[in-house]
Amino acid sequence: MDLQSSSIQNTMRTAIYPGSFDPIHNGHLDVIGRASRLCERVVVAVAVNHVKTGLFTMEERVELIRKASEHIGGVEVKAFEGLLVDFVRRERGDAVIRGLRAVSDFEYEFQMALMNRSLDGEFETLFLVPSQENIYLSSRIVKEVASLGGEIERFVPGVVKEALRIKMNR
Ligand code: PNS
Repeated sequence: MDLQSSSIQNTMRTAIYPGSFDPIHNGHLDVIGRASRLCERVVVAVAVNHVKTGLFTMEERVELIRKASEHIGGVEVKAFEGLLVDFVRRERGDAVIRGLRAVSDFEYEFQMALMNRSLDGEFETLFLVPSQENIYLSSRIVKEVASLGGEIERFVPGVVKEALRIKMNR
């Protein structure tokens, strides 16, 4: 991309926020809220992974994100299969959003951002930092705490808390 010529005033209309979201937690919602203040349209893109089956089905994940983010304007939730760059192109995305929590996230995120750029240099990857109280959250840790009977109310939206209770037979 010619960075010189693209420095003329540009606005970002569509941001794509991809992930597994198994399930969505308050850290994800924090990032969606921040992205929605930067862009008119935020597409939360739930990746179909045929290798790694999660706790929640694709339909359940999409539904939980829809319910949890309905108070945030301009958010759409879609499942996607295949390469993220192809989905971004189909959705006319201007940027890919990823949440960055800690230095430990950095290597993987950097690798993905550079791979996506080499596959399609037309969009940027933007890293957003969630607020401090959400910075340590991950779907894996939330599921582990829930499965061991820990209190997860502060970490996930109400719909997810209820869905986890049902899944874990509690
Ligand atoms: O929430 P996650 O599991 O960290 O999200 C990872 C995700 C889904 C964003 C990433 O695995 C992805 O983009 N998958 C789509 C396939 C793809 O495009 N892979 C090449 C990019 S490195």
